[in-house]
Amino acid sequence: MICDKNPQKIKKMFNEIAPYYDLMNNKISLNTHYLIKMLAIKKLNIKPNSLTLDICCGTGDFSRIINKLYPKTKVIGLDISENMLQIAKSKNPQIVFIQGDCTSLAFKNNEFDYITIGFGLRNIENRTLALSEIYRTLKPEGLFLHLDFGTHNLLSKIFDSIVPLMVKIAGKKNEHYKYLLDSKKDFPAPKELIKEFENQGFKFVKRYDYMFGIISAQIMKK
Ligand SMILES: C[S@@+](CC[C@H](N)C(=O)[O-])C[C@H]1O[C@@H](n2cnc3c(N)ncnc32)[C@H](O)[C@@H]1O
Repeated sequence: MICDKNPQKIKKMFNEIAPYYDLMNNKISLNTHYLIKMLAIKKLNIKPNSLTLDICCGTGDFSRIINKLYPKTKVIGLDISENMLQIAKSKNPQIVFIQGDCTSLAFKNNEFDYITIGFGLRNIENRTLALSEIYRTLKPEGLFLHLDFGTHNLLSKIFDSIVPLMVKIAGKKNEHYKYLLDSKKDFPAPKELIKEFENQGFKFVKRYDYMFGIISAQIMKK
């Protein structure tokens, strides 16, 4: 199954989803997504006075967690959708959020100590380009955290079957969440993803699975 990930279409979709993105995330994940994001970010052990770029920041969960857990560091959130960014800014006025496309980052080489991306890479048409931009802008020895849906197993199939029900109960647009399920099917399993990261030059550090592998985090080093 091939998903249409044209950046303009993706941006339009997230602009439309933005007002109910947080609500639906809570419902679909049974309120577990924030905790999992926090557990994964804790694994980075971010050092004081460092700079982190949170790509595909959406409504700002990753940036918020980094800012809360590591107040002596700086984080910048970046997203293509202005409506998602508007919500991120209103929830976190102390954090800098900027609009941008992660396949063409307006930053110098070797600028960030850490780069994070949560539930974002799956939506990028040209993944290789996004990964090369992440690699370029990360400092040598810098860490890259990727978090998204993981192994396709029985539990993930159960998850997939309850999503349409949750969407129906909440009375939201089904086509947006059909995209979520299609994009999951299209996306490589963690093992293959790690190989893709390595092909871009990253070195594997560690993989963490959550909820019996439905969600998976990988930490890579430049
Ligand atoms: C599923 S949301 C994830 C948001 C957040 N990281 C989280 O975990 O809740 C994916 C986000 O990626 C953004 N996005 C999609 N394509 C992008 C691109 N090419 N550059 C930057 N952001 C992009 C979307 O606008 C959306 O906010």
